[in-house]
Amino acid sequence: MLLNKFLKLFLVHVFFTFCMVGDSSQENLSLTKSEKQKLDKFKKSVSTIKFPQPWMKEDLNLLRYLRARVWDSQRAKDMLTETVKWWRDYGMDNIHKEDWSKYEKEFPIYLDGVDTNGQPLFAFTFGEWDLRKAVVQGRLKGVIRWLFKRRDEVHKKVRDLQREGKINGTQWNFILNLDNFNSHQHLCAQCLQLYTEWTGTYETHYPAGADKIIIINSPASFEIVLNLVRPLFSPSTRQALKVLGPNKSEWSPILFSGIDKDQLPENFGGTRHYN
Ligand SMILES: *[C@@H]1O[C@H](CO)[C@@H](O)[C@H](O)[C@H]1NC(C)=O
Ligand SMILES: *[C@@H]1O[C@H](CO)[C@@H](O)[C@H](O)[C@H]1NC(C)=O
Ligand SMILES: *[C@@H]1O[C@H](CO)[C@@H](O)[C@H](O)[C@H]1NC(C)=O
Repeated sequence: MLLNKFLKLFLVHVFFTFCMVGDSSQENLSLTKSEKQKLDKFKKSVSTIKFPQPWMKEDLNLLRYLRARVWDSQRAKDMLTETVKWWRDYGMDNIHKEDWSKYEKEFPIYLDGVDTNGQPLFAFTFGEWDLRKAVVQGRLKGVIRWLFKRRDEVHKKVRDLQREGKINGTQWNFILNLDNFNSHQHLCAQCLQLYTEWTGTYETHYPAGADKIIIINSPASFEIVLNLVRPLFSPSTRQALKVLGPNKSEWSPILFSGIDKDQLPENFGGTRHYN
């Protein structure tokens, strides 16, 4: 028992150290000759799939799936097939046509900032969302769907920027502010579904979508969430993730090392103003 506890503490410590050290780089777009051949073969093998969206069969996307499955073409194809099925079952084709005005106000997610490489930001102050209240009102599924809608929006946005030649690659950054995060509003039993669904769908359907994942103002209680979702993390997520505590003079220089202040709202220490 005691040993187990020590082991856990030790692992947590190693995890945090690793996160702080792990530095992410921009998406690697160069391929060796043999990787290029594997990609061409993979393209042929998935050509019979009926893709609901044209981007799904673009090289950059296929490459992500291949890399996520360590160049195992069959496993990458299974993963892609699963994404196509999820896209249909979850009604992703309609998601941007639904009325999100209430969610926009109550659960703001900012997508208009970019980092110094021009990669878009997906930023929100999750600590200010009353998740427990949403559960009580029977709106948890709606909140999750809202998050998925915004994630697909940033995914679209980054592809547009890449097509216009404004950025290299198709990655965005995930910036989470946990100021005001508390166990009452954010760790209720049903609330936990949000964290696993978010992480699971990210890893399976948007693999390596984020270049950087930065969490600021992370309280000790957020460890519960990290322990829950960590088994789902891909190596790329582990490399992208930086979990920073509540000391602003510590997280601020790290957060703003690759982002200008005018790209983030005031509660992130930025200067961008929203009404
Ligand atoms: C990018 O990928 C190529 C091919 O896999 C590899 O040779 C190269 O070292 C990688 N570059 C970086 C910066 O990781
Ligand atoms: C894309 O990469 C090239 C080569 O590394 C670089 O010269 C160029 O500035 C990059 N473009 C953008 C928009 O970052
Ligand atoms: C916050 O971090 C700074 C820099 O490491 C340190 O000097 C300061 O004492 C810390 N503040 C608190 C409240 O821990």
